[in-house]
Amino acid sequence: MLNPWGLFLCQLAINTSYHVIKASLCLGGSDIFATVSENRPVGEFIANLSIVGDPTGVNSIRLCLTGENANWFYLEGRTIRLNSSVLRVLDRERQGSVLMAALTCYEDDIIQSEHRVMVEILNENDNKPTFFEKTIQPRYISELTAVNSLVFTVKAIDADGDTIAYIIDRASPDASYFRIDLPNSGKVILDKPLDYETKTQLQLVIYAVETNTKEWYNTSVSLTVNVKDGDDQYPQFLPCIPISQDHNHTVVCTNAIYAVNITEKDQDMLLNFSPGPIHAEDGDRSLDTPLLYSILSGADKNRFQIDKQTAEITLTRRVENRHLTPIFRLRIMAFQLNDPKKYSVATALVRVLAENRFPPVFNRTTYKGFIIESSSPATLVSTYGNGVLLIQAIDQDFVDPTLATTGLYHITEEGVIIAKTDRLRPFDRHILEVVARDEESGEVAKASVDIELLQRSQPIPQTPFRDMDVRIAGGIMGGMLLLLVTTLFLLIRWAKRRRRQRRNPAGRGAVALGKHLKVVSAAPCTRNTHTVSTHMNLTHTQGQLKRA
Ligand SMILES: *[C@@H]1O[C@H](CO)[C@@H](O)[C@H](O)[C@H]1NC(C)=O
Ligand SMILES: *[C@@H]1O[C@H](CO)[C@@H](O)[C@H](O)[C@H]1NC(C)=O
Ligand SMILES: *[C@@H]1O[C@H](CO)[C@@H](O)[C@H](O)[C@H]1NC(C)=O
Ligand SMILES: *[C@@H]1O[C@H](CO)[C@@H](O)[C@H](O)[C@H]1NC(C)=O
Ligand SMILES: *[C@@H]1O[C@H](CO)[C@@H](O)[C@H](O)[C@H]1NC(C)=O
Repeated sequence: MLNPWGLFLCQLAINTSYHVIKASLCLGGSDIFATVSENRPVGEFIANLSIVGDPTGVNSIRLCLTGENANWFYLEGRTIRLNSSVLRVLDRERQGSVLMAALTCYEDDIIQSEHRVMVEILNENDNKPTFFEKTIQPRYISELTAVNSLVFTVKAIDADGDTIAYIIDRASPDASYFRIDLPNSGKVILDKPLDYETKTQLQLVIYAVETNTKEWYNTSVSLTVNVKDGDDQYPQFLPCIPISQDHNHTVVCTNAIYAVNITEKDQDMLLNFSPGPIHAEDGDRSLDTPLLYSILSGADKNRFQIDKQTAEITLTRRVENRHLTPIFRLRIMAFQLNDPKKYSVATALVRVLAENRFPPVFNRTTYKGFIIESSSPATLVSTYGNGVLLIQAIDQDFVDPTLATTGLYHITEEGVIIAKTDRLRPFDRHILEVVARDEESGEVAKASVDIELLQRSQPIPQTPFRDMDVRIAGGIMGGMLLLLVTTLFLLIRWAKRRRRQRRNPAGRGAVALGKHLKVVSAAPCTRNTHTVSTHMNLTHTQGQLKRA
């Protein structure tokens, strides 16, 4: 095992005097077994030789270290020392655990003995654990992954061979989703359900910690776990009407109720629902599975047909008698093409209204009213000849109009105007505009009411000519006539009466059957416009009629 390089390292005896003594100087040696810790400095003591002769003495012996690792040693007399340097550190992790060499003893250049030198390198904790790159790559796991199942395994290695435990940093943002049951396994278990709809990416920090060292060196890694959408959501009709939000901020929606109004005349038409159009989408946003639609119930023998792809609903036959079927209640189902068990049901209402044939009309374009000054909280507004002022709007589509208002004036169901007298002053003059609107057709009729507040002593004029005199008189009386500019919102209500339009017993002539009106709105007074705007809302209500 002598190599030339090894020979070169031989240590020459200083004294070369030949003559002397016996060939026993190399005796006494034995194989050397020693230990040295890694990272030790140059000159570290390794072992003393037990041979008799001393190479530094007068004896002509020569000791020579050869072999694989001989350059890690040098001899100082009969002591073997470590040959390391700042640049060449003894590292067990690189060098292996044992250094091997051979010690040869020459006497007069003749080999007298040869012994093995085996030096075990003692481990020091000079390495931290390191994660295997491929075990800490971003992960992709389905939101449908069951709780308590293994989601991935991390693995680290410690060059010193230390035992490693894996610990999740509980302070990392999404640590609560995971746990590690067996610390040495690195197996990461799902600890709570995932939901792609609320969280698509999770972050956690995992430590690999030495457990058998006093240093407890550790390494941490930040892991990204991407949640993949699973098919766990049912289709949802739009718009979403949120009813609640759970602690994960999941919005729970109820399905919209779609509605449309039709008349008996309509047929072969696409129904324009509101809110519209009828549409559902997969709750799994990123999957966006195609959906199909069908009518579960209420189609009335194909009177209503749905396009299974677009959800458009067509009315195929006209409604013969709206009193028999004033409303159709359709149950619409949207289901996943790939999994019909995932479905959702919404309601669509189709109301059948009477056809609008007549616009509303007032029986005059202008009404004249008078009020006598008074402190009573309410007074009927009179007209010429001291009669009660009666305003009437007629819509021949409707039965029995009724009227109502709020504010300074109130119109009763019969069209009588009641004034809040205690809030009026003599010579106030109010011009009210009364608007009658058919809410279904949008048609309107307007009339104005000119109301003057007379003094207690003043008689109500008998005719419009007297009216003139009054106003002149008022003007003469020191300009006390005050034209009060008021906005009065008048609400007009039509009675819902369960009977046919009397005017036309056949019910289908000039007047539509059973149309009714109802109140819709009222608003407060303002005092700076010239006209007084009032709204009369005419509405066809349904479901109220019995056939006569
Ligand atoms: C090794 O030898 C040296 C010099 O002979 C001596 O000082 C030292 O104590 C010895 N060491 C051991 C461990 O025997
Ligand atoms: C000590 O190590 C250095 C670097 O490898 C080498 O050059 C030198 O020869 C060694 N010394 C001995 C006595 O082996
Ligand atoms: C990891 O090492 C750092 C620095 O030595 C220490 O502050 C931290 O507490 C250790 N973490 C664990 C989990 O041992
Ligand atoms: C249908 O008519 C009713 C009044 O009869 C009205 O309240 C409703 O807003 C109408 N609906 C639609 C969708 O036009
Ligand atoms: C308007 O109708 C009311 C109530 O029916 C009635 O008293 C009044 O005379 C009518 N006015 C006209 C101009 O027909």
